[in-house]
Amino acid sequence: MSIIIQTLVNKGKTNLFKKLLNCSQSTCECLYSRKSSGTAKKFLSFEEVVAQRRAEARRSIVVQVNSEASFSELYGYCSKYATVNGIHHYKNTGGEHFMLIEFSSEESSKAAFQSCTTHQKDLDIMALNSPFLWFRAATGKKEIYKHSATLASVNGIEPVNEDSLFKDLINCETVSDQIQLLYDRTMLNDLGARLRYMVARQIECVLESLYANIAVRPFGSSINGFGKMGCDLDLVLTNTVTDEMCQPGRRLVYQDKRAEGGRAPWARHMQCVAELLELRVAGARRVQRILNARVPIVKFAHHYTDLECDLCYNNMSGVYMSELLWQLGSLDPRVRPLTVAVRRWAAATGLTNPHPGRWITNFPLTLMVLFFLQQKTTDGFVLPTMKSLVRRAGKEDVRVAEENLNCTFLRDMNKLPRECYAQNEASLQTLLLQFFEYYAQFDFQEKAISINEGAPIRKPNAQPLYIVNPLEQALNVSRNVSFEECERLKSEVRNAAWQLDAGLDRQKGDDWGLVGLIEQKTTRGLKKLLRAGNSHRLVSVKDLFNETDDSEPRNNLRSKLE
Ligand code: GTP
Ligand code: MG
Repeated sequence: MSIIIQTLVNKGKTNLFKKLLNCSQSTCECLYSRKSSGTAKKFLSFEEVVAQRRAEARRSIVVQVNSEASFSELYGYCSKYATVNGIHHYKNTGGEHFMLIEFSSEESSKAAFQSCTTHQKDLDIMALNSPFLWFRAATGKKEIYKHSATLASVNGIEPVNEDSLFKDLINCETVSDQIQLLYDRTMLNDLGARLRYMVARQIECVLESLYANIAVRPFGSSINGFGKMGCDLDLVLTNTVTDEMCQPGRRLVYQDKRAEGGRAPWARHMQCVAELLELRVAGARRVQRILNARVPIVKFAHHYTDLECDLCYNNMSGVYMSELLWQLGSLDPRVRPLTVAVRRWAAATGLTNPHPGRWITNFPLTLMVLFFLQQKTTDGFVLPTMKSLVRRAGKEDVRVAEENLNCTFLRDMNKLPRECYAQNEASLQTLLLQFFEYYAQFDFQEKAISINEGAPIRKPNAQPLYIVNPLEQALNVSRNVSFEECERLKSEVRNAAWQLDAGLDRQKGDDWGLVGLIEQKTTRGLKKLLRAGNSHRLVSVKDLFNETDDSEPRNNLRSKLE
C-alpha cells in the first residue's frame, strides 16, 4: 500500500496531513485513502489501527539478504509468486541486512509462503512456517528481472544520530520547534512499528497449532503513540474462548486438558511458551523466565529485529491502557511531542532508568504529562478527563479485562464534543515550561495525581508519589517510587523550570532551550572528567560487565545469502 500511496499522493500534502492529525505514517495513509474514497473521519480508532497493522503483518515477510543491492533480485523473485506492495530495507546492530516485504493480500502472500524451503534435512532443526526467512544465492545463471520499483525505505531503523540531532536542535528557531524536531526525529517510525507486529506474528504462528484463538499483540510504548525508535517490545498473549465456541447446542465437545501440578496453570503454559521460544522461534535469544510474578513474564531478545521483548499472558488491561494513552495522544498534536520531550528530559536527568527500581518509569511519567494537560491553564485545558470518556461510553465500548476489570470508556473520539479538548492554543514551549512550573509547586505530600478526575485528589496513604491507575483506581502506579526519588523528582522539575525559563533565548549559547534539558548529565560529567585529564578512570562498559559473545553458530549463512 505504501508504494501505491506514495506515488499517488503528493508527499508534501501527506506530511501536512500527517502533522495535522499527528499520526504515524501508516495511520496517515489509511486516513488518506479513506479520505479519497469519500468516507473521511477525523479520528481513527485504536482498534482500526491495530487491525490494520495486524493484517499488514499477516501479508508480510522479513527476508535476510546479503546487502541492500539484493533488492532488485528479491523484488523480481517474489513478484513471480505474489504482488509486492512495498519493500523496506534495514540493518540490525550486527550489520546484517534485511528486507521487509509487504504483499498485496494475505491470500497472495500464501503463494509466496508455499514457495519457501528449508535449509537442511536436519531433524534437530525441523522446518517451521515463519515469516522470518533468508534469500539464498542463485545457483547457476542469475535471472535478470526488469522492473521500476524502488525501496520504500533504506536503513529504515537506523539509530538516531545524536550529534546531528543536537546540532539541528541548537539551530532551531524556537523551543517549540526543538520539541517538534525531537519528536519527529526520535519517534517510532512506520518500519519500527511493522517489525514489532512481525515479531508478534511470528510467535503467533508457532503457538497457533497448540492453542485455539491465540493472539499475540504488542502493547506499551510500541503502540501507545509515545514510543521512540528502539523502544522495548511489550507483548501480550491472549487465548479467548468465544461465545460461539461455548454454544450449548453443539454436541461435539473438545476433550480438554487440565494442567496438572501445583503451579498456576498459566505459569506452566508460559513455561512452555519459553521452551518454544528457545526451540522454535528463529531469532529469539537469551530467554528468561520470570514466572512467579503476579503477571508471569518471559523476556527474550529478538536478534533479527534487535528488539528486547517482554511477553506476558492475558494482560488485556495493559492493551486497554495503551489504547487510552493512544486516544489521548491522538486528540491534540501537542500531546505526543510534549510527552516525548518530558520522557527524554527525565532520562537525561537520570530520573528514569531502563532498569526497574525505586524510581519513576515512563508510564507514570506519561500519566503526569496527561494530567497536567487536563488542567485549566491560562486559557483552558488540552485533554478531557478519563471520567468524561467513561460517562460518554456506549454499549460498543464495554471491555472487561482479566480479573473482571472494567475497562469501559469512549473509544470513538469522533463522538467527543469539540469543547471537551484542545481548549487552549499554547505553544509547545509554553506547555513545557508550564509543565515544570505546575509540578514545581504541586503538593506531592498531600495530593495524588488522577487522570480520571483531572484534578489533584487527597492521597489515600503515605506513599511518596501517588499516581492513580486509571483503570484500577484503588492502585498507585508509582508505588515503587521511594521518598528520595520523589524528592529528586521535585528538585529536578524546579531546576528544569528555572533552567528553561532562563534559557529561552537562542542567543544564550549552545545549551539553550530544550538542549540544556536533554543533554545527558552523565555525558556532561564525562566531558568534565576528560577535560580534567582523568580519562584513566573511564572503563569500557563491556569490560565492566565482562560481556560474552552469545551469537549462535550461523552455519556460514552470510556466504550463502543473496
Ligand atoms: P517504555 O517501555 O519505557 O518505553 O514505556 P512503556 O509505556 O512501554 O512502559 P512499560 O514497558 O513499563 O509498560 C508497558 C505498559 O504496561 C504501559 O504502557 C502500561 O500500559 C502498562 N503498565 C505499566 N506499568 C503499569 C502499572 O503499574 N499498572 C498497570 N495496570 N499497567 C501498567
Ligand atoms: Mg515498554
